[in-house]
Amino acid sequence: MKIAVTSASGQLGTAIVHSLIGLVGPESIIATARTPKNAEHLGVEVRSGDYNQKAQFDLALSGVDTLLLISGNGDPEKRKQQHASVIDAARAAGVRKVVYTSIIGPVSDSDFAPIVNSNRHTEDYLKNSGLAWSIGRNGIYLEPDLEYLDHYQKDGKITNCAGDGRCAYTTRDELAYAYACMLTQEQHIGQTYNLAGAAITQYELAESINEVFGTDLYYEPISVELYRQQRISELGEFMGTIISGIYQGIRNGAMDVPSDYQKAAGRAPVSLLEAMRQFQSRASS
Ligand SMILES: NC(=O)c1ccc[n+]([C@@H]2O[C@H](COP(=O)([O-])OP(=O)(O)OC[C@H]3O[C@@H](n4cnc5c(N)ncnc54)[C@H](OP(=O)(O)O)[C@@H]3O)[C@@H](O)[C@H]2O)c1
Repeated sequence: MKIAVTSASGQLGTAIVHSLIGLVGPESIIATARTPKNAEHLGVEVRSGDYNQKAQFDLALSGVDTLLLISGNGDPEKRKQQHASVIDAARAAGVRKVVYTSIIGPVSDSDFAPIVNSNRHTEDYLKNSGLAWSIGRNGIYLEPDLEYLDHYQKDGKITNCAGDGRCAYTTRDELAYAYACMLTQEQHIGQTYNLAGAAITQYELAESINEVFGTDLYYEPISVELYRQQRISELGEFMGTIISGIYQGIRNGAMDVPSDYQKAAGRAPVSLLEAMRQFQSRASS
């Protein structure tokens, strides 16, 4: 029984392949990648899989029983077509089950809504495909905040427009474990899970960072408009708007979702402090 993972060269895809190797061994896994050489380090069979090239997936999914489709990272309208092409190719190739990595978040009133809606579109497309399916709605990655720690320390604070809103965070390793379970266990078919830990405020995020990293940060809320301008000037229009839209979604309560992690993974999610310690120990090794 072969399990294929798309975008396996990326950080999430890599973590999922590693988790799967521990469960089923490398010979049962196929990594598909837009840039195959970027996935060679995984130690599993690599096949070409560019979301813009459906014909590549017609070949790549031959002999595959179960597919993990990782959401793309381009323009949201284009993502809908890319994901649909992969699902169509999966059905044509005789794939039995598709697991899709979706996202939690706002479907309106936020600049992040177009991204969330493109994910919801794919969820519906998959549910109507006739294939067996499972969907994970990923929480917000914790790692980018920790990778940004030097900037926060320079400013002495975490600044964004989330206000008092709560956000359900996760890490790629946590997601990888849950997806490995969802790919290899049948009880998840027909289920949609929020894959995240307990939702926290930015005040709690700052306190937890201080506890683990010995910093002395505080949280400063600012307006959505000001934060959008700041993000666009640092990251450009596309990414800046997405990032500020995520915090706008937190402010509006759209990232405050109950966790289904235990149902997906068969264990509780690691605590926020533990996730930070794991990041810290990996960064220092
Ligand atoms: N939950 C969150 O907070 C959060 C945050 C950011 C992103 N995301 C979503 O999670 C996904 C995975 O995240 P990540 O951390 O693994 O991102 P990442 O490390 O940046 O990896 C992105 C991957 O997408 C691949 N890719 C780009 N264009 C492609 C295409 N046309 N066809 C096939 N693959 C393509 C890249 O392949 P190459 O090796 O060819 O470059 C790379 O493997 C993202 O794509 C995005 O949808 C979620």
